[in-house]
Amino acid sequence: MTSPTLEAAGAADPIRAYLDRGLRNYWYPVVPSWQVGSAPIGITRLGDQIVLWRDQDGNVHALEDRCPHRGARLSLGWNLGDRVACWYHGIEVDGGGTVQSVPAVASCPLEGQKCVKSYPAQEHAGAVFLWFGDDAHKEPAPLVLPEELVGADYAQFLCVSNWKCNYQYAIDNVMDPMHGAYLHATSHSMAEGDKQADMRVRKTDTGLMFEKVGQRDVNFDWVELGETGCLWMRLAIPYKKKFGPGGNFGIIGFSVPVDEKNCQVYFWRTRKVQGWQRDAWRFLYRNRLEGLHWAVLEQDRYVLESLAPNARDHEFLYQHDVGMTRVRRMLRQRAQQDFAELDAWRAQHGAQAEQAAAGHSHA
Ligand code: FES
Ligand SMILES: [Fe+2]
Repeated sequence: MTSPTLEAAGAADPIRAYLDRGLRNYWYPVVPSWQVGSAPIGITRLGDQIVLWRDQDGNVHALEDRCPHRGARLSLGWNLGDRVACWYHGIEVDGGGTVQSVPAVASCPLEGQKCVKSYPAQEHAGAVFLWFGDDAHKEPAPLVLPEELVGADYAQFLCVSNWKCNYQYAIDNVMDPMHGAYLHATSHSMAEGDKQADMRVRKTDTGLMFEKVGQRDVNFDWVELGETGCLWMRLAIPYKKKFGPGGNFGIIGFSVPVDEKNCQVYFWRTRKVQGWQRDAWRFLYRNRLEGLHWAVLEQDRYVLESLAPNARDHEFLYQHDVGMTRVRRMLRQRAQQDFAELDAWRAQHGAQAEQAAAGHSHA
């Protein structure tokens, strides 16, 4: 497969083309767990076509969705437990991307070869996460998720939505707490507080915090971005007592690139509740809050999907956009770093390949 960064190299601004496709060398949630059953499914993330299936032990496997024989979609094929079989001529590929069987011919040299790219997969908090490493980062970084997703003290609901906009707009939107007091002014949770604020950026151990100066626990007053093998965002929405136990309502969000024009957002709604309070909260969430939350999220989607074409190229930003600007700069730096590391990797491996070839010709 051509590396997306190689394709990007032909673009006028290769860093931007790469960023628009999706920043690699992170884990991303790619589907809610319930969507991966026994039949293989095909998805597109970061522009890659990927097939996912669950083996006989319940583990999820992910491969490039392309049969090595003639390019049929493996996701159209069959789940044989520890491997998938291509629908077209029956080639069987295991979860590591190795061809296990070519049933149409006797002893085909393809058998035993790793011909298909595989993606390391993990499941947490009701979603499947995949590692999107480039050639220089095939080994996945440790995936460290915020405690709200993995800690026993928390209850969470996952809400996933498909948005017809580039994933960077969805990040911008979360890094912009000020929109809560306007876009969501009539919502059940964000009608309170100043419609004007001074905003400041503060560094944290894992990223940064962007917050209103002097306002806490009134509206959507701060947002945090963290980088811990994955890129997550955290915010808290204060809740009135009538919305049940557990205090502030937390949100952990991920913006996942599908392709240049589409993304998928993952928002876990979290609350620190245990025992009967957790049951009460789950009941309340399902019956009262979930619908209200969808209404708020739809407001975001509606605005983002109808932004002016190439909105980011023609902006007049002001003081409360500084958090967003910082994150954009940070992502661009990551992209530059990925390019530099990939170049170094290629130089080294190109040299090794030449040496091997030279050694071969002398032999
Ligand atoms: S294309 Fe898959 S077996 Fe031929
Ligand atoms: Fe919003």
